[in-house]
Amino acid sequence: MASGFGQKGNDKEGVFISFEGGEGAGKSTHINFLSETLEERGYQVLRLREPGGTSLGEKLREIVLDAVHQEIVAETELFIYEAARAQIVAEVIKPALAQKAVVLCDRFFDSTLAYQAFGRGLDRDFVERANAFASQGLVPDRTIVLSCGKAARTGLERATKHGAADRLEGEGEDFHTRVNEAFFTIAQACPERIRMVESADLKSQTARRVFEALVDLFPWMGGLVADKAFFEKVDVGRYGNKHCDGG
Ligand code: TMP
Repeated sequence: MASGFGQKGNDKEGVFISFEGGEGAGKSTHINFLSETLEERGYQVLRLREPGGTSLGEKLREIVLDAVHQEIVAETELFIYEAARAQIVAEVIKPALAQKAVVLCDRFFDSTLAYQAFGRGLDRDFVERANAFASQGLVPDRTIVLSCGKAARTGLERATKHGAADRLEGEGEDFHTRVNEAFFTIAQACPERIRMVESADLKSQTARRVFEALVDLFPWMGGLVADKAFFEKVDVGRYGNKHCDGG
């Protein structure tokens, strides 16, 4: 295991990083590139997605995203996401962190706040309590919110260019603009944990900003951020959609 691991003052635990953002913000590319870089440095890395990451969670994902299920009401939707979360936290994330892994999760509880509270209009306090309950006290060490602006159209087009829109992608532009705006609000409320990273430019520039946002957790990344050629690898495209879908 490489040095500079974590900042919890506790070398028995790993590092938990969540990636957030509206539709088509490019999460998969940056999770894949970061994951590969960490693995090359000797870290044990686990890439996960929410909802999903467990046998039960993947089934719940299928249900909640299936455009056939137009009957799902906002309250049901909230509990499906929380159920998948409770399972992945207990079954996968907590054990991995106890093994000192770096866990990279494509979405976590900030998505529930953005989509179900700000997007659907459910009570924010209730959603926050449900989030805390399902995540069993676990809070990411760092959350990277990738953003290509508040307007939803470009991201939605990017997210749906390879197939039909899922149930959430099929919500109107207004819904997704509310979600995009919500991530700014949520990030402002938690400046220590959450970093907004602009992702509208070249992927290499975004990748560099992601690493900059992690330097306090992995000090060796500070030596990489000036290395233009290192980040240009991301522009050749092989990092997109390798593991996590719909990024
Ligand atoms: P994605 O991770 O492939 O983007 O798909 C997950 C979809 O589910 C995405 O539209 C965001 C949405 N979502 C919620 O609405 N609430 C949640 O708590 C989570 C984790 C995701």
